[in-house]
Amino acid sequence: MAAPPYRPDCSWLVRICFLLGALWEMGAEQIRYSVPEELEKGSFVGNIAKDLGLEPRELAERGVRIVSRGRTQLFALNPRSGSLVTTGRIDREELCAQSARCLVNLNILMEDKMNLYPIQVEIMDVNDNAPRFLTEEMNVKIVENTAPGVRFPLNEARDPDVGTNSLQSYQLNPNRHFSLVVQTGDDGTKYPELVLDRVLDREEEAVHHLLLTASDGGSPPRSGTARIRVTVVDVNDHAPVFFLPQYQVTVPENVPVGTRLLAVNATDLDEGVNGEVTYSFRKITQKILQIFQLNSHTGELSTLEGLDYEDSGYYEMEVQAQDGPGSMTRAKVLITILDVNDNAPEVTVTSVSSSIPEDTPPGTVIALFYLQDRDSGKNGEVTCTISENLPFKLERSIDNYYRLVTAENLDREKLSVYNITLKATDGGTPPLSTETHILVNVADTNDNPPAFPHSSYSVFIPENNPRGASIFSVTAHDPDSDENAHVTYSLSEDTLQDVSISSYVSINSDTGVLYALHSFDYEQFRDLRLRVTAHDSGDPPLSSNMSLSIFVLDQNDNPPEILYPSLPTDGSTGVELAPRSAEPGYLVTKVVAVDRDSGQNAWLSYRLLKASEPGLFTVGLHTGEVRTARALLDRDALKQSLVVVVQDHGQPPLSATVTLTVAVADSIPDVLADLGSIRTPANSDDSDLTLYLVVAVAAVSCIFLAFVIVLLALRVRRWHKSRLLQASGSGLGGVPASHFVGVDGVRAFLQTYSHEVSLTADSRKSHLIFPQPNYADTLLSQESCEKKDPLLTSIDFQQCTDEAQSIQVRSVFHLSLYC
Ligand SMILES: *[C@@H]1O[C@H](CO)[C@@H](O)[C@H](O)[C@H]1NC(C)=O
Ligand SMILES: *[C@@H]1O[C@H](CO)[C@@H](O)[C@H](O)[C@H]1NC(C)=O
Ligand SMILES: *[C@@H]1O[C@H](CO)[C@@H](O)[C@H](O)[C@H]1NC(C)=O
Repeated sequence: MAAPPYRPDCSWLVRICFLLGALWEMGAEQIRYSVPEELEKGSFVGNIAKDLGLEPRELAERGVRIVSRGRTQLFALNPRSGSLVTTGRIDREELCAQSARCLVNLNILMEDKMNLYPIQVEIMDVNDNAPRFLTEEMNVKIVENTAPGVRFPLNEARDPDVGTNSLQSYQLNPNRHFSLVVQTGDDGTKYPELVLDRVLDREEEAVHHLLLTASDGGSPPRSGTARIRVTVVDVNDHAPVFFLPQYQVTVPENVPVGTRLLAVNATDLDEGVNGEVTYSFRKITQKILQIFQLNSHTGELSTLEGLDYEDSGYYEMEVQAQDGPGSMTRAKVLITILDVNDNAPEVTVTSVSSSIPEDTPPGTVIALFYLQDRDSGKNGEVTCTISENLPFKLERSIDNYYRLVTAENLDREKLSVYNITLKATDGGTPPLSTETHILVNVADTNDNPPAFPHSSYSVFIPENNPRGASIFSVTAHDPDSDENAHVTYSLSEDTLQDVSISSYVSINSDTGVLYALHSFDYEQFRDLRLRVTAHDSGDPPLSSNMSLSIFVLDQNDNPPEILYPSLPTDGSTGVELAPRSAEPGYLVTKVVAVDRDSGQNAWLSYRLLKASEPGLFTVGLHTGEVRTARALLDRDALKQSLVVVVQDHGQPPLSATVTLTVAVADSIPDVLADLGSIRTPANSDDSDLTLYLVVAVAAVSCIFLAFVIVLLALRVRRWHKSRLLQASGSGLGGVPASHFVGVDGVRAFLQTYSHEVSLTADSRKSHLIFPQPNYADTLLSQESCEKKDPLLTSIDFQQCTDEAQSIQVRSVFHLSLYC
């Protein structure tokens, strides 16, 4: 259809047609009209009234109308003007398509005469259609590098108009690569074809946009366009190209594993698989393959394991880039590793003596070692130190060898193990260091004797100890070790009273426990001096001494011993005489007792236990003297019997008793008379026997007395001589008096009676032992403790000082012996 603005002015055309129609009507009976398409409704087509020879008003009167065969009425009659007009727009292309002539036949019926008049209306073409392409966009694919001259058919355009109004020509917009040829088919249809004039390069221009225009021959001409999109199909005509011919990177050796070092980068101008670049190593060692990895897609080069400058400081490798079809290029990759102080120094001890004797002289080499550091430069410069205050020092030897030597004397007893720390430090920033420990044992030498805590000990043990009892224990300590500290104990070979000490005391050589081999008796010896020696088992052994004093403590183990009056062997007792004329306090006799103990145990007291005449006699509590308590009377019996008990002050106390017989008479005849008067007849048979015995005893006594006197005289002479000798030398007198202090000495009173025996020629022939008063005021007597009891040969005990003491006792002299 023609576009609305396109409204041609048809008046002149209508007039021509009218003229032609009139001519036709005159020539033939058929009325012909022609009318252009696309006229407004009601446009004039032909004057029917006139052509039929009628007045316009007759048309209605005669019932003129149009009859057509069932078609849409294209035309109508205008009754006022009597002309044929269009009923609407007429589109020739719709009515007649591509036919060259478009004729519409209709009949006019005149009802009054029933006449039919045929009318033919020709519809004239108007250029109301432009040529049109079926698709306004065309896609053409051309492989690049296609040879020039190749043709590519294009879609043709259509124009429904006919004649010159139909499609007449094609044009292609100007471009560098393509031209257009138009082929004309048998039916006159025109086919456009694209001709490649110049080789295409996809990399230069991948897509070409062309415009194809189809034009008709109308006036004015009309045209239609279509866009042609020429896509250049890629061909792998480019190899990948690396951005750089050589890639370089410098990295410190301590980069973490997996670090991206660099990325190689190649580009391929092609597209698709032809431009897909993959990277790979080329010409590479197995080692590099272990250290580096190349991402085949991104070209990133990263580490697979830690880098080590000390291993290799430089890597060179080749990488290649490859596109899909296989074109490839290469590039070099250079990696330089920088040293980092990542290696601590190493100390290698080549030899070490683990044990050195403590008497090693200073300067002895203990260990030899060398230092190394795998880093280079300052990072590899190593210095070595040991801790201060050690008796060792370092000496540098050749290269990086060092010696550890002793700097002073060692003492195992002070420190037996040295844990020497060698600290090696390099010169890096920050420096790294290594510590190595060298263990040096100081071996023992026997340089210490066993030592007792004290040089002397005193032990106090009560006498009567059980035999074999342990009395003391000594311990000596030796700071050395092992055999050098194994201590054995022994007693020195001293003697006591000519008997080896070892027979009194023994020592367990291993434990140092001392045992008493005897039950000690205070009365025999009071102290014992020993020297204990401790030996170690070194080679040579060392020893030390210790002195041990054992003091025996007294126990009350001896009862008082009554020396006078002594118990007669025949059961009778001596008779003491008390004259009837005796004053009160007259000393009748004295009970003499000794106690071999000492101190309280030997402090004796005397008491009257029993008396036939109570109150007549008293006994001195401490002196033992028996004195009359009052004047004797005639009625007092001639014979008095007294029982005296002597008791010490021990715990518990021990005692002894003695029975005294006192005859109360002025003279012996009285006694005899009195005795005769009191003799009982039952005793007459015994009197003779008694008499004989008394005589015999008297005789023996006389002889004994004489012997004792002679003996005493000899002794006195000898003592006098030895006293003169000792006066110049060191004798027994050297023992200090203080030695006896506290011992309270046994004071024994030896009473020797000078017996004067007088025998009276009495009818009764009875003999009496009769003590005569002896008025020797002072008698110095010496008793040289001659007792040869071996146990009393103790040095301390031997010393006896005899002191004569005078006792003025009528008829009695005392020999006082102080021990
Ligand atoms: C290649 O390297 C250049 C320069 O470093 C960069 O501009 C480009 O983006 C890189 N191309 C790829 C694919 O990495
Ligand atoms: C030495 O001393 C170090 C630390 O002071 C310690 O780690 C090491 O175990 C010691 N060596 C021995 C054998 O005791
Ligand atoms: C131990 O005593 C003995 C005898 O007196 C002596 O020979 C020795 O040298 C003494 N030993 C020591 C270590 O004093």
